[in-house]
Amino acid sequence: MSPFQLTRTLPEDATSAALRADVQHGLTRTPKELPPKWFYDARGSGLFEEITRLPEYYPTRAEREIISGRARDIAAATGARTLVELGSGSSEKTRFLLDALPELHSYVPVDVSESALTGAGESLLADRPGLHVHALIADFTRVLALPDTPGPRLVAFLGGTIGNLLPDGRAEFLRSVRALLSPGDALLLGTDLVKDERVLVAAYDDAAGVTAEFNKNVLAVVNRELGADFPLDGFDHVAVWNAREEWIEMRLRAREAVNVKIRELDLVVPFESGEEIRTEVSAKFRQEGVRSELAAAGMKLTEWWTDAEGRFALSLSTAV
Ligand code: SAH
Ligand code: AVI
Repeated sequence: MSPFQLTRTLPEDATSAALRADVQHGLTRTPKELPPKWFYDARGSGLFEEITRLPEYYPTRAEREIISGRARDIAAATGARTLVELGSGSSEKTRFLLDALPELHSYVPVDVSESALTGAGESLLADRPGLHVHALIADFTRVLALPDTPGPRLVAFLGGTIGNLLPDGRAEFLRSVRALLSPGDALLLGTDLVKDERVLVAAYDDAAGVTAEFNKNVLAVVNRELGADFPLDGFDHVAVWNAREEWIEMRLRAREAVNVKIRELDLVVPFESGEEIRTEVSAKFRQEGVRSELAAAGMKLTEWWTDAEGRFALSLSTAV
């Protein structure tokens, strides 16, 4: 068996059917909204990697600091033989875990981005020829059919990507993660923490404009996939801190009134001048909130580690 297997768990046309449904629903409601998973075509995945290297975008560096310092503790606490990673992207920080887990048999990265999965898989195997990499092209908000690999299983969800789900979606997602855990398995969760608004806004509105490009990429995806005519220059990137919800919102704001045609949906979407599409929320957490959301889904938080500056947390939980 090849050490790298790539499985598409959705039919080829499922992505386009899901995009059509999300665009139809999200752009005909008020306020307008698009789900963030559509950022990540090959260009969007590349732009996200650029974001992780920006001076303002601290979460990746903070999480790397924690993982690199705690990889041995994580290995000792879990003894994992299979590492499942949801929203794995480039798997760059995961390397610390792969290197620290002496009994690891299989790595199962799960992502909607095929380019991210193949890029990460090839580069991991070049360094670790004995590892079995079974990559899944899948939506982690749907029921996941995981390959039959040896336990104990460690499910990792890094980067703070859980914050990109809305509270109801988060609760449902955590219940579905709980269903993947057998006794002895664990969840490793990365959560970005509440902090000074200026630090947060700068992280999502960088001086070089990379996050703005990433945000507008969703319009490029809709233009290409659904024959739409969004003028990319006609929309501004907006990042605001919502203090009540404790999340950053990314939006795209129309510079002037425009009617956007979406050929494949036979739809015209009118925008007033200044009208916005919310394209992402990125929730920021506190320890008690994480603990209680995990408990509500049937998991118990057993470890909580932060970086030295207390910006980001990595937690370990088990099923109860
Ligand atoms: N975990 C990596 C990447 C974070 S970027 C890190 O910490 O750096 C978020 C990743 O989740 C992207 O690779 C994106 O393609 C993926 N993603 C976003 N929504 C998804 C969904 N609904 N299902 C599966 N993957 C998703
Ligand atoms: C993937 N996710 C955790 C990132 C975040 O910070 O919410 C996506 C991102 N959006 C803008 N910059 C990065």
